[in-house]
Amino acid sequence: MAGSRGPATFEELHVSYPDESVTETICQYAYDEILQRIPKGKVVVDIGCGIGTLASRIAGFSKEVIGVDIAPERIERAKAVHGAKNLRFYVGEAYHLPLDRQSVDVVVSFAVFHHLELARMVPELKRVLRRPGMVFIVDIYEGFQKPSARIRTWLRMFRRDGVLLTLSTFAKMLPLYMRKKNRRHRRNDSERMKKMNTYTFQGFREQYSKHLPGCTCGEDIVPFVYCQYVIRE
Ligand SMILES: C[S@@+](CC[C@H](N)C(=O)[O-])C[C@H]1O[C@@H](n2cnc3c(N)ncnc32)[C@H](O)[C@@H]1O
Repeated sequence: MAGSRGPATFEELHVSYPDESVTETICQYAYDEILQRIPKGKVVVDIGCGIGTLASRIAGFSKEVIGVDIAPERIERAKAVHGAKNLRFYVGEAYHLPLDRQSVDVVVSFAVFHHLELARMVPELKRVLRRPGMVFIVDIYEGFQKPSARIRTWLRMFRRDGVLLTLSTFAKMLPLYMRKKNRRHRRNDSERMKKMNTYTFQGFREQYSKHLPGCTCGEDIVPFVYCQYVIRE
């Protein structure tokens, strides 16, 4: 984990699933819902953008999108894959974003904040955001780890994609899900979130409301949790 313990290892910072498999399946549903909640025509920063899939989709309706990730390999890949003129990618650290003061309208972040200390992030969010500005943080929590929540996700896929496509997606995901390394990764994530008190929705809401008073938290981007916050002054 990056933060007070110092720089993270490459292994710690990466989702252990191949990006394509994840983004083609579960994350894609979350991305669809995130896109609907981001205002159009704005300057947006995606913190921990990975290989830039979400940033690139946001760029389709934004003035400018900046993707920042601590992993150079991911940023290299993002640059190679996405070529929109209003999209830029930088290697950077979430606590010290490579952005000027009050230079963006929206901060978005997907599946990253469980790696970060919220108390350290808040001043940086406030520094880069214009007024009014919006924060939209989507993250994993127990709903991502618990089988019952995963089943809900698969049911939604089934409704959208039908039997054949859902089964083929399931067949692709299952070996990844079961891989020892990935099980260990999920376990580590759970332990970290429990320590941060963001593992349950109640804990997540408590933490975010404490650091971003007046924010709205929700669980309806299945199987993730989110915090939406508007900063006015
Ligand atoms: C689970 S991945 C999510 C990637 C991407 N948001 C997506 O939708 O696929 C977490 C990402 O957060 C990045 N990350 C972790 N700690 C970071 C930090 N302190 N600063 C910037 N990026 C960080 C990792 O390199 C990784 O790409």
